[in-house]
Amino acid sequence: MPSRALRIGVVGLGRAFGLMLPTFLQDPRVQLVAATDPGAMPCQQFERDFGVRCSADAKALCDNPEVDVVFIASPHQFHAEHAVTALQSGKHVWVEKPMALTLAECSAMVDAARRANRLLMVGHSHSFDAPILLTAQLIQSGQFGAVRMLHALQYTDFLYRARRPEELKTAQGGGVIFSQGAHQVDVCRLLCGGLVRQVQAHCGVWDASRPTEGAYSALLRFEGGAFASLTYSGYGLFDSNDWMGNVGELGHDLNGLPKAKNRRLQIQRQGEPDAVALEAHLKAQRNYGGEGWSGMQGIKPAAHHQHFGPLIVSCDLADLRPTPKGIAVHGIDGTSMIELPPPIVPRVEVIDELYGAIVKGQALLHSGEWARATLEASLAILQASQTESRVNAFQYQVSPACELGSLSL
Ligand SMILES: NC(=O)c1ccc[n+]([C@@H]2O[C@H](COP(=O)([O-])OP(=O)(O)OC[C@H]3O[C@@H](n4cnc5c(N)ncnc54)[C@H](O)[C@@H]3O)[C@@H](O)[C@H]2O)c1
Repeated sequence: MPSRALRIGVVGLGRAFGLMLPTFLQDPRVQLVAATDPGAMPCQQFERDFGVRCSADAKALCDNPEVDVVFIASPHQFHAEHAVTALQSGKHVWVEKPMALTLAECSAMVDAARRANRLLMVGHSHSFDAPILLTAQLIQSGQFGAVRMLHALQYTDFLYRARRPEELKTAQGGGVIFSQGAHQVDVCRLLCGGLVRQVQAHCGVWDASRPTEGAYSALLRFEGGAFASLTYSGYGLFDSNDWMGNVGELGHDLNGLPKAKNRRLQIQRQGEPDAVALEAHLKAQRNYGGEGWSGMQGIKPAAHHQHFGPLIVSCDLADLRPTPKGIAVHGIDGTSMIELPPPIVPRVEVIDELYGAIVKGQALLHSGEWARATLEASLAILQASQTESRVNAFQYQVSPACELGSLSL
């Protein structure tokens, strides 16, 4: 049980790493000690910022005795391989969402963690957000009666952000089901008890130049009868942050920032030679160490909690609306607001859970088993849409494995 900070080795220094960097810099419970990435620029930046040589590859990083936890932020298709390598090297693993591309890969990861007696945590997903955790705690307390219905909606320009080629190919984990369903399904499972029993869905592939799912509407039924509608558009010209008080997904006030429409116009250069390579380059350029990286000084504190769009969950005695500032409770006696103090460290909930599990021996909420169930439900959305039928067979659904009241907020 280390009393010192957990020493983190990072596999993949791209966008996901850039999003966690403010947390790494501000939370004394974690320390960055190693990294690996095939890109020269992010490695050079890491070496300058943290004064350590980057490892040659994931295997070398996993063999580094200085590393306690391997944070896997490489593209989806590498998650399983990198996680199993790290677990077999005796490291704890924290892997980005989605856990992997297939249920077989997820099971291999879960099995490797069991065999190695090491921890496997999956995230960040927006079900870590404090307003979602508090809403789940309120539901689990029983004070508002049974949960009956949930609606979640998110409109973004996901499909028109600069992408690697595989992010636009469903078979390789591209499209909004794998990347964004991993948030929305996870949030919805947490609030509705976890056990998905039926899925109906339609997915939209509307732009032949970006031939993967850019939108979906799904209806999930849960054990106990609660049902949830989940809608996501990555083709959005509307930006659903407008319905969250103009607070962005990362908790920043959005005054004056460019809207989705501008980025869509930027990316529509598909006729150009080398457009695919150019686009991947554009993505890397904006990442950690790239020419467009604004540096550590460009990291701005967020005034509000992170979120994943408008959401309302109906219980017998109240409709609950998590917001970036707290929970709006629309109850029988009127509406009240349970305010949450603004976050001091962004995404601190992720470190709370990781540190709580490794150092204090607490049960993980976002375990491999939990994330496998989220992938199973996400894959069911694809299947239900492709086959135009209901999916009723689920093998891996689990309830939250810990008392939510025990999670610190
Ligand atoms: N939780 C979140 O908010 C969030 C946000 C963005 C991405 N993600 C997840 O993070 C993962 C990466 O996505 P991204 O948008 O950061 O992609 P990205 O392309 O921005 O970054 C991926 C990085 O991994 C590196 N990489 C590629 N192959 C590698 C290998 N074999 N070993 C080590 N590094 C390798 C790339 O060079 C790149 O720097 C995805 O699974 C994605 O779903 C999560």
